[in-house]
Amino acid sequence: MSRRVRKAVFPVAGLGTRFLPATKSMPKEMLTVVDKPLIQYALEEAKAAGIEQFIFVTGRGKSAMEDHFDHAFELEATLRARGKDELMEGARNSIPPAGQLFYTRQQQPLGLGHAVWCARHLVGDEPFAVLLPDDLVDAKTPCLRQMVDAYEGRGGNLVAVMDVPREHTKRYGVLAVGADDGRIAEVRGLVEKPDPADAPSTLSIIGRYILQPEIFTILDAGEKGAGGEIQLTDAMAKLIGRQPFHGLRFEGTRFDCGDKLGFLTANVALALARKDVGPGLREALGRLL
Ligand code: G1P
Repeated sequence: MSRRVRKAVFPVAGLGTRFLPATKSMPKEMLTVVDKPLIQYALEEAKAAGIEQFIFVTGRGKSAMEDHFDHAFELEATLRARGKDELMEGARNSIPPAGQLFYTRQQQPLGLGHAVWCARHLVGDEPFAVLLPDDLVDAKTPCLRQMVDAYEGRGGNLVAVMDVPREHTKRYGVLAVGADDGRIAEVRGLVEKPDPADAPSTLSIIGRYILQPEIFTILDAGEKGAGGEIQLTDAMAKLIGRQPFHGLRFEGTRFDCGDKLGFLTANVALALARKDVGPGLREALGRLL
């Protein structure tokens, strides 16, 4: 029996330089897709997968996220006084129950592996999920829910994967694949951001992971990899052969919201799908195009 995944780590310390000047004094995770910040999409996805403890690895200048997931008494009182109960409920629903949100800081930008390692004492000795809020996945069954379902009965480590154009392998952690039934692929090897010519496949990791706590022992060594950073992919590679390791081709559409074009596309796609703004946006786009 695989142990239940109760905790999720959200590495949110990144500077967001690709979105300057927007992110000069605002965390990039607070950028909105239609009307919800990226971090809220990620947190709601985790909640829908049964996660009970939400661990944010933050950094300097990220306090807007802490405020976002807290009560805003003035706002709530004003909305109530104006009879705007629906809006008030919307603002309230984004708040996780008291005591289920944890914050720690990554004090230096040493890489994703290091960010996850910073959460080691909060995770403890149990499996956990990692969600990178830059990766927004629009799916009927939320991506992490699909992963938790695939993980039960299999155990070990699981990453969400998708095929990318070969010329893009330099942006991802890429799998060397063993047995593959078209949905779940056995992971034989992992390489961080390989050149297209060296990539073992085009099956690439998007920012969703279920990991076993043994990863922390490996990360303890603080070994640097691609780009001189402590890479999560390198630490995961060391678990292969020691624990089950699979890639799940999730169902849904992933938007790379860490990139301007991906972020804009996510806004258009999610807005078009909405009843309130979809029809109007369709018309406006028609005029613009
Ligand atoms: C990180 C990981 C990479 C993964 C990617 C998914 O890279 O290091 O393995 O494929 O997220 O978005 P980053 O985008 O932070 O450079």
